[in-house]
Amino acid sequence: MPAMTININGKDRTVDVSPDMPLLWVLRDTLDLTGTKFGCGLGLCGACTVHLNGAAVRSCQTTVKNAVGKTVVTIEGLNAKAEHPVQVCWRQANVPQCGYCQSGQIMAAAALLKQKPKPTDADIDSAMRGNICRCGTYQRIRQAIKQAAEVKK
Ligand code: FES
Ligand code: FES
Repeated sequence: MPAMTININGKDRTVDVSPDMPLLWVLRDTLDLTGTKFGCGLGLCGACTVHLNGAAVRSCQTTVKNAVGKTVVTIEGLNAKAEHPVQVCWRQANVPQCGYCQSGQIMAAAALLKQKPKPTDADIDSAMRGNICRCGTYQRIRQAIKQAAEVKK
């Protein structure tokens, strides 16, 4: 089986895995990019959210072959110094509790703000609906997204 090259966080990475392997497995187990989390493996929780060509996708539901020729960004590559406006506002609002869902939440929020720099409440609800937080940090997530939208203006 030929190795595949995928562009992850700005670097071409060659992986020799089954083309049908979920991207999440490749990120975590092959490339040691463990900031992206496994939650359900079924596309239901959003813990595994990464950017594929700039859009938020569930990496547990994306095969590695579908990432070939596209750009993948994980939480490790969102900003080299963790200073993306979403990350800054996340810290200011003290959003995380246990933290497990948070890289997925941040990636979903960053994709939303790229697409809609001034999101309405409905936009936020719609973009973030699939990202579950067992700790119930939803209010702070919303606050941080609104702050980040202000910062990005
Ligand atoms: S682990 Fe992918 S959506 Fe839950
Ligand atoms: S902060 Fe614990 S699951 Fe979201």
